[in-house]
Amino acid sequence: MKATAIAPANIAFIKYWGKADDALRLPMNSSISMNLSGALTTTTVEFSSDYRVDSIEGTEFTSREKEKIVSHLDRIRKIGKSNLYAKVITKNSFPKGAGIASSASGFAALTVAASKALELNIPEKELTILARIGSGSGCRSIPDGFVYWKNGESSDDSYAYSLYPSTYWDLRDIVAIVNAEEKSVSTTDGMARVKTSPFWKERILGIPAKIQAVQYALKKKSIRDLGIVMEEDCINMHAVAMTQNPPLFYWKETTMAIIHAVRRWREEGLPVYFTIDAGPNVHLICEGKNEKTVIEKVKRLHGISQLIVNRPSLGARLV
Ligand code: DP6
Repeated sequence: MKATAIAPANIAFIKYWGKADDALRLPMNSSISMNLSGALTTTTVEFSSDYRVDSIEGTEFTSREKEKIVSHLDRIRKIGKSNLYAKVITKNSFPKGAGIASSASGFAALTVAASKALELNIPEKELTILARIGSGSGCRSIPDGFVYWKNGESSDDSYAYSLYPSTYWDLRDIVAIVNAEEKSVSTTDGMARVKTSPFWKERILGIPAKIQAVQYALKKKSIRDLGIVMEEDCINMHAVAMTQNPPLFYWKETTMAIIHAVRRWREEGLPVYFTIDAGPNVHLICEGKNEKTVIEKVKRLHGISQLIVNRPSLGARLV
């Protein structure tokens, strides 16, 4: 009763920031993302009557993170009517502390591996719902390529599906890892206070039009159309975070320096756009043909410890 799954992290073009239901992790708004080939989690789950406790190895987790993993195993045990304990071994392809969120890839891989280990044949849609309850953005790491997560009215109605396969458009996400000592506030804690911002509602009201614009940009494969709306929602999300109580400033000086550089490169004719999650790192989105030029330019900036180059990736899968 053992299975291994691999799942990618994802970058949201339209972000999830705020829950309509905390326990079920129902998002206030729909979102769209791309799976990342260079940021993967591999997880093996084994259920056995030999085990007397659940154990988690391979990556260091805080006690709160461990509790979340065990609660997720409980959900899957409940579906499988099992009371067996599990051994979980999980590894990330990206260095811990790099500031790349591993909760999406982690919960997607855990969901697929644990349900297979219990010999449950759960269809993709239900797997996305299950992963979502573990970590919201985790549902977007299950389907392939470019993914839509519907906010939905109820738990059964808030799931993710693939808009286009990973081979559809040769995009790059070059992640500039910004040196930062302090640990940032977790996404769960950060978005829990979303309603303390005077601007959260305005952002949510603007989302349906932005979702449509991203869908249109994907259909046309227009990096310009995608980039403009993606940057707008990134800035909106951070404006909400920065105006929450207490305020959340995820950006560092280097983050701001990269934003200015990207805008300058664009004025010089290079189609590259930025987006930023709940941390200081900057995701530089461009087409494959411009990868080399973007890397050359970004390498000349100060305060970046490493680059992770991603292509669109398959979703979670068994190995
Ligand atoms: C800023 O999925 O990590 O990356 O559901 O509380 O686990 P929880 O939050 P999580 O939030 C991701 C927030 C984001 C934007 C995004 O990926 O859409």
